[in-house]
Amino acid sequence: MKTDSPAQAAPFAGRKQSLIEDARRERSSGSSGSPGPSGGPRHGDCVVFEEKDGRVTLNVLFTLSGGKNAGFFKAGKIFETFEAKLLHIESRLGRKSKNSAADLEFFMRCEVHSSDLDVFINSLKRVADDVRSVPDEKVPWFPRQIKELDRCNMLITKFDPDMDQEHPGYSDPEYRKRRAFISELASRHKQGDPLPVVEYTAEEVSTWREVYRQLRSIYPHLACRQFLEALQQLEKECGYGEERIPQLREVSAFLGERTGFQLRPVSGLLSARDFLSSLAFRVFQCTQYIRHPSAPMHSPEPDCCHELLGHIPMLADKEFAQFSQEIGLASLGASEEDIEKLSTLYWFTVEFGLCKQNGAVKAYGAGLLSSYGELVYALSNQPEYRPFVPEECAVQPYQDQTYQPVYFVSESFEDAKLKLRRYSATIKRPFAVRYDPFTCSVEVLDQPKKIQNALSQMREELKTLHSALEKLSSS
Ligand SMILES: [Fe+2]
Repeated sequence: MKTDSPAQAAPFAGRKQSLIEDARRERSSGSSGSPGPSGGPRHGDCVVFEEKDGRVTLNVLFTLSGGKNAGFFKAGKIFETFEAKLLHIESRLGRKSKNSAADLEFFMRCEVHSSDLDVFINSLKRVADDVRSVPDEKVPWFPRQIKELDRCNMLITKFDPDMDQEHPGYSDPEYRKRRAFISELASRHKQGDPLPVVEYTAEEVSTWREVYRQLRSIYPHLACRQFLEALQQLEKECGYGEERIPQLREVSAFLGERTGFQLRPVSGLLSARDFLSSLAFRVFQCTQYIRHPSAPMHSPEPDCCHELLGHIPMLADKEFAQFSQEIGLASLGASEEDIEKLSTLYWFTVEFGLCKQNGAVKAYGAGLLSSYGELVYALSNQPEYRPFVPEECAVQPYQDQTYQPVYFVSESFEDAKLKLRRYSATIKRPFAVRYDPFTCSVEVLDQPKKIQNALSQMREELKTLHSALEKLSSS
């Protein structure tokens, strides 16, 4: 695909970094792609959903036969004796017994002291039939606190120069050694540590310069307004330019002041689930090594050119930052099938998205904004454009070996965010999640009390807004 012309030169940068393919493989292999439990832990013969502060949450199913009407009251007494807190109760006509018309099955979700669990179940067995605990719908593990991103480190190594014979650095041992050194800095990083500083060599800066110069020349005509504004600020405040490769530490501080996003060094291409889950915490995982000098316009894996030029400017925009976080939040605990769809959505928006601005179509996707060839192609009259509809976008076949045959055009980031939110609501999860920026944690809204607390917080915020509106109207 390489020619001498910049417009046609090595068409893609970082192209093969396909979250979708990773998600598909994880799904077909039946792996959650993340460390940690994927269902409820077990206590003896009981399946419990969650253990916290010495109490476990479990689902109990039992049957009371028609001849044991008193059993219902006895069962209630057992719940009282063991201080079992009822969270949910359902009943239905029995389906197993011959006398099903007279039998009732009960499903109860409750919380008991973990030390009482066995005797609690045994006591129920004395007054009811067919007592058993049942697992919750299988929910893959996901991080709930920002420090748990340290566990989201599953790498996809197939595009590494050590593994991929097509990688321009495959036959260059010095390059591979240097890349391994920089990767090692990232793999030692823990959440909250200062971000590593890389002393780039003159050759690495030269590669960066070539990429920067070529892309910078076409941005004003093809990149969206938000990207251009942020790039100007980065040039002014973060040392963006041809002369040096910006350090993640200073760029992360820049983003933190604008959108609360922070960077985290990563040693390679992450699994789709782990990458998306970090977005839920407004953490963007960034590689720090640079592509091979022999192919400055092409890298089969993400590198600092792709991250710093493609992704960073957009993450400085509030609407886009929120859009990115919404994808991350939707991914937490999602099924493998939904992770694949969200990865596809991510691909056609965050990586290859276009948007309308002042009657023209502009690029905001990082895969485009870090690839001279595809940026020019995507904004020519050759490709097919479709309006951004998440349900269609999520199942659109993608292309990772050449340019996309179709691009999705958003009306605005606000519009894309609203559509994504509606789409996310259709993802099947037995709970909703909410990000708490004060504790940098994800709250699982699976109990009425948690929802009430969230609502009262919102009421307070609404009061502040109402008061501000009143002050405006009276001035
Ligand atoms: Fe990317």
